[in-house]
Amino acid sequence: MTQLPGLLDTEAIRKDFPLLDRQIHDGKKVVYLDNAATSQKPRQVLDALNAYYERHNANVHRGVHVLAEEATALYEGARDKVATFINAPSRDEVIFTKNASESLNLVANMLGWADEPYRVDRETEIVITEMEHHSNIVPWQLLAQRTGAKLKWFGITDDGRLDLSNIDEIITEQTKIVSFTLVSNIMGTINPVETIVRRAQEVGALVCIDASQAAPHMVLDVQALQADFVAFTGHKMCGPTGIGVLWGRQELLEDLPPFLGGGEMIETVSMHSSTYAPAPHKFEAGTPPIAQAVGLGAAVDYLTAIGMDKIAAHEHAITEYAVKRLLEVPDLRIVGPSTAEDRGATISFTLGDIHPHDVGQVLDEQGIAVRVGHHCARPVCLRYGIPATTRASFYLYSTPAEVDALVEGLEHVRNFFG
Ligand code: ALA
Repeated sequence: MTQLPGLLDTEAIRKDFPLLDRQIHDGKKVVYLDNAATSQKPRQVLDALNAYYERHNANVHRGVHVLAEEATALYEGARDKVATFINAPSRDEVIFTKNASESLNLVANMLGWADEPYRVDRETEIVITEMEHHSNIVPWQLLAQRTGAKLKWFGITDDGRLDLSNIDEIITEQTKIVSFTLVSNIMGTINPVETIVRRAQEVGALVCIDASQAAPHMVLDVQALQADFVAFTGHKMCGPTGIGVLWGRQELLEDLPPFLGGGEMIETVSMHSSTYAPAPHKFEAGTPPIAQAVGLGAAVDYLTAIGMDKIAAHEHAITEYAVKRLLEVPDLRIVGPSTAEDRGATISFTLGDIHPHDVGQVLDEQGIAVRVGHHCARPVCLRYGIPATTRASFYLYSTPAEVDALVEGLEHVRNFFG
């Protein structure tokens, strides 16, 4: 068995994930390499979800009965756990949403309805990048269309990095918000946050970071990032679906208007007008995803017990090995950084002229799960003149043997298509 420095004890870790034992296609053990789409869930998270529904289920913030108090304590306890996990200065800066897309849409809409000095209008500019997930493109396009603001973006280089050579022309005195991904969901690129934040701060622009592909894989410290908003989702970091997070700086959350109106986000309501509860409740209209937040809290406990620095080291070792092995496959071209430096454990590639959908299907027949397509980052495919890629993405339970299985699987694909 291949041993690499920095690897976690995957034999022990994999015992926590029931799905990883699943066999498909006549007894083939599943090789799950689609972690950028969603991660598998450890027993600890599944147990927390069950325990919540079996013993504590009630609506939060509303009842005086014991179950309502327990549910509220669990829901708010999950907020505390997330706040600690991302080193938020205050638990009130952690807003629970449905997913990262909702978090990013929330920021765009807060700004869309804001007064000065946050107001986005036809005199102002919004900056994104060409390597964003659609969830960090479309909300800004909608905001630009509604307000008349100009949408600008950083391009990408041939090797899958952000092209910041024209940073002073892209981020200008007119820029109101710069929103970019910390780690590309299609190429795995880790972006130079500090350089972008420094320029944004020079011109007084707000910064929003999409950390969906970072929060599961590395230490995420919102204070060190110096951003104004950070968005991520629970289901990619061992939590359930249906729960996302928006962290925002307290003074901004105090100043900015709510987007969704409804129950529990108010202070008072009359038939003429309403006043709003303080953040985070101002931004959490209606019954929130209670069980999902509890599940996310359990996921945070699970990841913290292993150690995010150790998870990052494990994934770096796997990435280094995977890049090396993949580049040995004839006709394989990595789309994105082709070294393990400043990149995460998500690797997109093309294989000669074989369509990624065919690659994915033949891999699936061997029990190997990868994602194929444009990965909701179509501008990246357009940039490189390709319709799609095959994407393998690894996590804390991934092993060198799974990298070998992928490489062997790709040999089958090549033989199959001659
Ligand atoms: N955002 C997820 C992905 O990149 C679904 O696959």
